[in-house]
Amino acid sequence: MSAILPPSERLWWKHPLDRLEATWIIIAFIWCMIMFFMMVFWHVYGKQNLATETYKTNPAKFMAQTQAFVDKWTVRTETEQKIPVVAPPEGSDIYLIARLWSWWPILELEKGKTYKLHLTAMDYNHGFSLQPVNMNIQVVPGYEHVIKVTPTESGTFSIVCNEYCGIGHHEMVSRLYVK
Ligand code: CUA
Repeated sequence: MSAILPPSERLWWKHPLDRLEATWIIIAFIWCMIMFFMMVFWHVYGKQNLATETYKTNPAKFMAQTQAFVDKWTVRTETEQKIPVVAPPEGSDIYLIARLWSWWPILELEKGKTYKLHLTAMDYNHGFSLQPVNMNIQVVPGYEHVIKVTPTESGTFSIVCNEYCGIGHHEMVSRLYVK
């Protein structure tokens, strides 16, 4: 009998298990368990997988919230596109929009203070990646990701898009200031 022919006995599960086969099944099962518990482990001990809350939203609603935030706390504009730099007070809700191919606005935060970051994409999937701390959040259109952030060091950080989003993907970069 070979593997391409139907088994002569239909009740194949009653056949004795070959030792080699059993060994591989046990190895595969143990490996599955390790991989499964690593997900939980990295969520708790890893520094990159964040516990975010996610809510449904839509571009018009999120844009209105972000515009109100920008109107209230803008301190200056930067770059050729005159992107507003927004310096919100401690504890406030802060907004960041990802779209083809920019991040809007630029945030200026203070070290040791906590903010509630709201993040969405206006069009397609984008990837929020804060460098060099390597903090990554998948940004999905139609959903608002809410993350509590407390900057622990001051400086200028880069925000890059790490989800391929078309011809201008490589230009989808921004910055984040921490005072
Ligand atoms: Cu946005 Cu790549």
